[in-house]
Amino acid sequence: MANDSAIRFVHFYWNQKGRPTKKKVISRVDAYHGQTYLSAALTGIAFDKIGFDEADGIVEYVACPYPYRRPEGMSVEEFCDWLIEDLEKKIEDVGAENIGAFIAEPIMGAGGVIVPPEGYHKRTLEVCKANEILYISDEVVTGFGRLGHYFASEAVFDIVPDIITSAKGISSGYQPLSATIISQEMYDVLSVPQADGAMFTTGFTYSGHPVCCAAGIKNIEIIDEEDICGHVRKVGPYFEEKLGELNDLPLVGEVRGKCFMMCVENVANKETKELLPPEVNVGGRIANHAQKNGLIVRPIGHLNVMSPPLIMTTEQIDEFVDILRGAIEATQDDLVREGVWNG
Ligand SMILES: Cc1ncc(COP(=O)(O)O)c(C=O)c1O
Repeated sequence: MANDSAIRFVHFYWNQKGRPTKKKVISRVDAYHGQTYLSAALTGIAFDKIGFDEADGIVEYVACPYPYRRPEGMSVEEFCDWLIEDLEKKIEDVGAENIGAFIAEPIMGAGGVIVPPEGYHKRTLEVCKANEILYISDEVVTGFGRLGHYFASEAVFDIVPDIITSAKGISSGYQPLSATIISQEMYDVLSVPQADGAMFTTGFTYSGHPVCCAAGIKNIEIIDEEDICGHVRKVGPYFEEKLGELNDLPLVGEVRGKCFMMCVENVANKETKELLPPEVNVGGRIANHAQKNGLIVRPIGHLNVMSPPLIMTTEQIDEFVDILRGAIEATQDDLVREGVWNG
């Protein structure tokens, strides 16, 4: 809903500015933005589209900023240049006069906890500004503490977007709540309708629901009082370092992420990065072994994705990583015994 609202606001904004052709939105391959008709179209993950129709003619995709699987022979810096060129080329092909906004998660979540190359976000924002394209930062996962700040866009990636969408951490999930936060400049344009008959309206049956908002406000009070963001900033690097130790396991291709948003990518071959066949369900197997020992990690295909509670301590991190190591080792043993992998 927050992302749908963001696109409606973008369209209204450009109508107000007398630029009604600026309607398309650029998203990215492997992005996840939701399951409504429009946000499913913004989503660039192929498996979310199978068998469904989606909003036509609005969304254009650029490449996923996935350093681990960048083209052969490219440095990460060259890969970043290539991504920026890809965006510039897309804008040239579609025409800046037809593009209203660019949408991006600071770190892609469901798409595999993809941390883009250094400088990528700043450079994409500069390209957007140069082409009068609004920048939407989808902080549904990264907002409210997961990366150690209320919002990651400016604090972690040094960008100030035109719109931030948020949910999940805004109420720590105790009540359903989301928000579409717009810049003062956008607010000023939206709040004084110019065009003939234009009137800015938005709202849902449960918008601003008092119970959910009360939970959200209390949640923010607790985050402040207990300095949860400070805790994540302090302990997050330890989590990254400890999980990084799993890189010595033959099945682990890459451990990546930031603070309390992490991922292990499992591969058949560390050198070639080749994957096990999907039916092996390597992520699911690891998750099952881990759960037997009290740890829940999310399997997404060959990945295991982790978004632990923001109050996790260093002792719990040690236990977490021990259990996960055991689960990966048990999976390795199973795969060798079954003859589906030769170590
Ligand atoms: C980055 C991101 N954006 C948007 C959404 C969609 O949120 P909802 O499922 O509440 O519609 C999600 C859900 O996981 C998400 O991870």
